[in-house]
Formats: sequence, C-alpha cells, structure tokens
Amino acid sequence: MTAILFVCLGNICRSPLAEGIFRHQVEAARMTDRFTIDSAGCGGWHTGELPDKRSIAVAQAHGIDISGQRARQIHIDDFDRFDLILGLDRDNVRHLMAMKPEGSQAEVALYLEKALGMAKNVPDPYYGSEADFEAVFQMCEKAGAGLLKKLASA
Ligand code: 4NP
Repeated sequence: MTAILFVCLGNICRSPLAEGIFRHQVEAARMTDRFTIDSAGCGGWHTGELPDKRSIAVAQAHGIDISGQRARQIHIDDFDRFDLILGLDRDNVRHLMAMKPEGSQAEVALYLEKALGMAKNVPDPYYGSEADFEAVFQMCEKAGAGLLKKLASA
C-alpha cells in the first residue's frame, strides 16, 4: 500500500484535480487496494471549502467528479501517514521540506518531476482563465498516468 498526498497552496484548485484524476486512473486500472490518495494545502484559508468551481467544472467536463472533496491544511502527522508527498510547484515543495520532521520517512518531491522526470511547476490557475484550469487538468492527467505506471511496476 502506497499513501500519496498531493499538496498545493490552497487545496482548492490544483491538488483537488491531482487527487481526483489520480484516483480515477487508479480506479480504471483496478488498483484501488494499492493506494491511499488525499490532498492538502500549504495554507489553511480555504479549510472545509469545496474545490474551486472552475476545478469542479473542468473535472466534470472530463467525466470526473471532485465535488465531494473538502479543503484541508497540511498537518505534521501527514509526514508519518503518507509515503509520497507531492508538491504541485516548487514553492509547495519548499514549504513541505521546511515542515518535514527529522526522521520522517516520507518522500517529498515536485509532482511533474517525480511522475514524468520534468522539473516543472503545475502553475497556479487561481487568478487565471478557464484555459489555465484546462492546462492544469492536462498536466495532472499526464502526470497521474506517469506516476501510476512508475508505481505499478515498482
Ligand atoms: P491552489 O490555488 O493552490 O491550486 O488551490 C490557490 C487557491 C487559493 C489561493 C491561491 C492559490 N489563495 O490565495 O487563496
């Protein structure tokens, strides 16, 4: 069993998409018993909120329902509960590395780098357009497929 946590800044735009898409891919591959999947934000401003309506809409357009998710902030216990903690951008990774307790076995990495070997951020679409949310979806879909392939064969 591998426990994976996707982390962005607010846990309302990017990481809910990363979580929902990866869960969908894992379900399609009939590997739900092999993964625990969750998401969180570096900040807690949106705690308890649904994903941003633009994230819900872009996921829905691709046949994925993420409306059941609720935002939460990363907690120190997450470094014991999760094997792989994936920041959507480098600021997120920096925040996670600074928080990581000594002795935690969790691997903290940049999502696209871990999944696809691409040292690239998934850009924050919060102040962007619908096209920016579609771009986030596409990146997370490719990354999810790459991550699943990597972990399934490990
Ligand atoms: P996310 O996007 O990190 O992809 O969830 C953001 C959501 C909210 C804020 C910034 C980014 N905010 O400033 O409230």
